[in-house]
Amino acid sequence: MDLYPLIKPLILRFDPELGHTFAILALRSGLMPLPCKSTDAVLATRVFDINFPNPVGLAAGFDKDALVADAMLAQGFGHVEVGSVTPRPQPGNPKPRLFRLVEDRAVINRMGFNNRGMDAMAARLAARSRRGIVGVNLGKNKDTECAVDDYVKGARTLAPFADYLAVNVSSPNTPGLRALQSRAPLVEILSGVRDVLADIAKAGGRRPPLLLKIAPDLTPEDLADIAAVALGADLDVGEGETGVDGLIVTNTTWARDGLESALRGEQGGLSGAPLMAASTSVLAAMYRLTQGRLPLIGVGGVETGADAYAKIRAGASLVQLYSAMVYDGPGVGAKVVRELAECLKADGFTHVADAVGADQPDVRGTVS
Ligand SMILES: Cc1cc2nc3c(=O)[nH]c(=O)nc-3n(C[C@H](O)[C@H](O)[C@H](O)COP(=O)(O)O)c2cc1C
Repeated sequence: MDLYPLIKPLILRFDPELGHTFAILALRSGLMPLPCKSTDAVLATRVFDINFPNPVGLAAGFDKDALVADAMLAQGFGHVEVGSVTPRPQPGNPKPRLFRLVEDRAVINRMGFNNRGMDAMAARLAARSRRGIVGVNLGKNKDTECAVDDYVKGARTLAPFADYLAVNVSSPNTPGLRALQSRAPLVEILSGVRDVLADIAKAGGRRPPLLLKIAPDLTPEDLADIAAVALGADLDVGEGETGVDGLIVTNTTWARDGLESALRGEQGGLSGAPLMAASTSVLAAMYRLTQGRLPLIGVGGVETGADAYAKIRAGASLVQLYSAMVYDGPGVGAKVVRELAECLKADGFTHVADAVGADQPDVRGTVS
């Protein structure tokens, strides 16, 4: 039974960041009730050479320090992305920095990569039994001049413990971070991280897939540049290789269109229901620009199985969510998974992979 609707009015009265702290404590204590999970075979999918039990993951930012990754997997998420983590611990921006826009089912945050640093995360991940899929999202410290150094350090330290690595150059709350999505800095960062991963592979270690997480607020020219680099342009890639193994589309937005809440003027990144249409349209654009050759993770505004299904039909091989949990609790992941299975079966799909890009018949390519 989902108890969350009963306690929701109380939780929504807490300061949002305190609510998050309580959620983490409850998850760590093991007291959080477990939802009814779907293990429907239609949901199983292989992406980046990894077998996912279902395509719905927890987006970065909820578990910045990898404190509750296994608890969130137990809640029914098919994967969990921890971070963003920076090389050195940092406190983030002054509070308040997290706002619920209840009327809009949205969230604004300007957390600023508050986290305990990569060594603490490495120790925590090393202690796991590693039964579920955990990706690590890498950021940079606010006061680091040379961004490449931070991503390289993060990759070197955390690759051994990550099922995949995500380079995050798209959070709006670290000054200058989004400028790293331009072609030249992007090439520099990805070259640096790819070199680290190549060294790991040469030494006999496992090279985790490398993903890039992008913003929704990009011009068509920016998107075309990112797609080109993601496919390998300007990078030293071998025959048949791409620059990254996948893209995460998208982070939070600067846009504030059509919001009701009095808090809409707060600075930071907007997420939740109002982001669904914009992020899905960037996802569809990226699928077309990369000709379906790269697996995409669709994130932004997913609250229901129908939302997840729309992203998959637009070109996502996997989806993620965060803000819906603020309103519907941690069990929302399992609910989205169950509803998604119904959507797929209603349209006659027997494997979720067959629905990827179904709304883009001219582009459907060779995503595996
Ligand atoms: C409070 C909060 C903190 C976040 N922190 C991060 C972060 O550290 N790194 C990151 O890549 N994305 C972060 N995000 C963005 C989410 O991962 C996701 O891309 C975005 O919220 C859109 O998904 P949603 O509408 O389902 O929330 C954060 C989002 C929220 C609401």
